[in-house]
Amino acid sequence: MTSSDAPSTTVLDAEAAYAVRPHPSPLPEADRQAALAEPRFGTVFTDHMARATWTAGAGWHDRRVEPYGPLQLDPAAAVLHYGQEIFEGLKAYPHEDGSVWTFRPWANADRFAASARRIALPELPREDFLAALTALVRTDSAWVPRGEEMSLYLRPFMFASERFLGVRPSLEAEFLVIASPVGPYFAGGVRPVSIWVAQDFHRAGAGGTGAAKFGGNYAGSLLPQGVAHAKGFDQVCFLDAATNSTLEELGGMNVFVVHADGRVSTPELTGTILEGVTRSSILRLLSDAGHEVAERRIPLAEITAGIADGSVAEVFACGTAAVITPIGRLAGADFDLTVGDGTSGAVTTRIRAQLTDIQYGRAADPHGWMHRLA
Ligand code: COI
Repeated sequence: MTSSDAPSTTVLDAEAAYAVRPHPSPLPEADRQAALAEPRFGTVFTDHMARATWTAGAGWHDRRVEPYGPLQLDPAAAVLHYGQEIFEGLKAYPHEDGSVWTFRPWANADRFAASARRIALPELPREDFLAALTALVRTDSAWVPRGEEMSLYLRPFMFASERFLGVRPSLEAEFLVIASPVGPYFAGGVRPVSIWVAQDFHRAGAGGTGAAKFGGNYAGSLLPQGVAHAKGFDQVCFLDAATNSTLEELGGMNVFVVHADGRVSTPELTGTILEGVTRSSILRLLSDAGHEVAERRIPLAEITAGIADGSVAEVFACGTAAVITPIGRLAGADFDLTVGDGTSGAVTTRIRAQLTDIQYGRAADPHGWMHRLA
């Protein structure tokens, strides 16, 4: 994924491709305003959803925007048995002039196609992916929240819908996009989080599904995440499955380490971690700012020693949902460390402001990352 990821082909005309079937009774204005006031992440949804259907014979068809609501699924639908499901996460950002923009959607479209290949689902053309986002956001533009740190989280997903219990790729699939007004991902707003390093669970192994945005990866992270929560931590960090010694990711977020001399490291892409859009954007912004950035294997022992002796100054997590979240405490079976002084470090704070200023249209967009939706 590079920063110049805009396509050479034209986008399908969103309105034409995704015909709108308007909700007969959208949420009244006053109720919508109440729902937008302080939404807890992923709990409030807009009036509509975008949708398309795929069959092996007909390909993608029946593109539409329809009222948000429960799906009807056959009990034998393949997704309910073998978990054939992938998803994406993007945000629609309100700009001062009333326009609505998203960030590097082509990168998400390409990753969605890569995830589909790995999970044996049909690929959705990138123009189609963007047309669905555009049609939904235009239809539900009144749902884009306008407050500080607020955005409309867009969740494209695809699942195997064929009624068939044999273990083979489904011959039918559904693609949907739902939208959810959100503020900060973590309860309590933007604040440093605490991380428990799991040494007895792994998220992914070589040749597995770790690089795909595949629902099963997240299901597998729930028990270790629960263990971390029970110990009083916000999130879990996974180590590599082969050596149980190098940093991977947090399950729903990538991780960065800022050294006291200004160098910045993040785990390299080995096929077992997600190639985050926020991750690659941060790498670019940091190298633009003159930081030496390294994608490499990062031994946990190097980081714990570095936090203890001060040569590691900052650690942060990043993702679309979490944006950039400072890590204030890192602990595992035999260590418990405060990172720096436990608050957001200077590099973390600066890169977060730089990224969100681009996303919310408060700063120039030097890499052409923003795409207008409405
Ligand atoms: C995102 O950052 O968009 C994610 O997908 C992480 C999580 C909410 C699953």
